[in-house]
Amino acid sequence: MKFRGQRVLIAGGTSGIGLATARCFRKEGAHVTVTGMNPERLAAAQEEGLNAQALDSRDRKALDKFFANHGPFDHLIIGLGGSKGMGEFSGMSLDTLKEGFEEKFWAQLETLQAALPHLTKGASITVITAGSARMKAPGISGLAAINGAMELMVPGLSKELASFRLNAVSPGVVDTPWWDFLPAGNKRDMFAQFTADIPSHRPAQPEEVADVIEFLAGNSYMTGKVVGVDGGLA
Ligand SMILES: NC(=O)c1ccc[n+]([C@@H]2O[C@H](COP(=O)([O-])OP(=O)(O)OC[C@H]3O[C@@H](n4cnc5c(N)ncnc54)[C@H](OP(=O)(O)O)[C@@H]3O)[C@@H](O)[C@H]2O)c1
Repeated sequence: MKFRGQRVLIAGGTSGIGLATARCFRKEGAHVTVTGMNPERLAAAQEEGLNAQALDSRDRKALDKFFANHGPFDHLIIGLGGSKGMGEFSGMSLDTLKEGFEEKFWAQLETLQAALPHLTKGASITVITAGSARMKAPGISGLAAINGAMELMVPGLSKELASFRLNAVSPGVVDTPWWDFLPAGNKRDMFAQFTADIPSHRPAQPEEVADVIEFLAGNSYMTGKVVGVDGGLA
């Protein structure tokens, strides 16, 4: 039980990669708190034994209150993010791209800054970005901007926040509800298109990404790195 008794927060931990990560940490003996907004997902997470708390990470006042009430934490994983920002640039509404930044880049930064006074010395911080930041493919330049902005912050920020360890995990295509904005058939086609040129020819399962997050949280020498978990996609 590698994380026995340690306190872990997964912001955006009621679905997909965050939820798989929560299960990993709990199996290793951690006390795990997950946040999200959807009441049904929160209830399901609570039912399986996670401490599930309703929290909108775009709301700084709510974040400050949350950390004052629930901190301190030994590990912080910031997994939240939405799907706005995907699509070909020429036809894209830039307002939608701005919303994409709000729901991922700014929500992740608000969470990180609010958390800092409530992390224990030596705590690990892992943010989830995306391989889109480094891919050449049509339709993803908006996601590249959002995730690239966060990835570029990681090295410098890890030096500033030297009493913690900060890393990013950068997945490629992962089979999670993130893709549910597409009809089922289109989702399958999109997975096939994105994974056609990688050795596995399949998207990752969220547990495969969770495994790397758990490694980064547990390894005391890893910091300042963006680690791709993308099957060779980016
Ligand atoms: N799936 C992929 O192919 C893929 C690839 C590369 C990168 N990523 C990144 O990986 C991260 C996790 O994605 P996922 O695939 O696990 O997606 P997911 O299944 O849709 O899960 C997203 C989680 O974030 C929470 N969340 C979203 N906005 C929030 C907010 N403002 N405040 C609090 N919680 C919020 C959601 O909770 P509610 O439902 O309650 O809002 C949910 O728990 C995202 O940053 C995504 O961009 C995913």
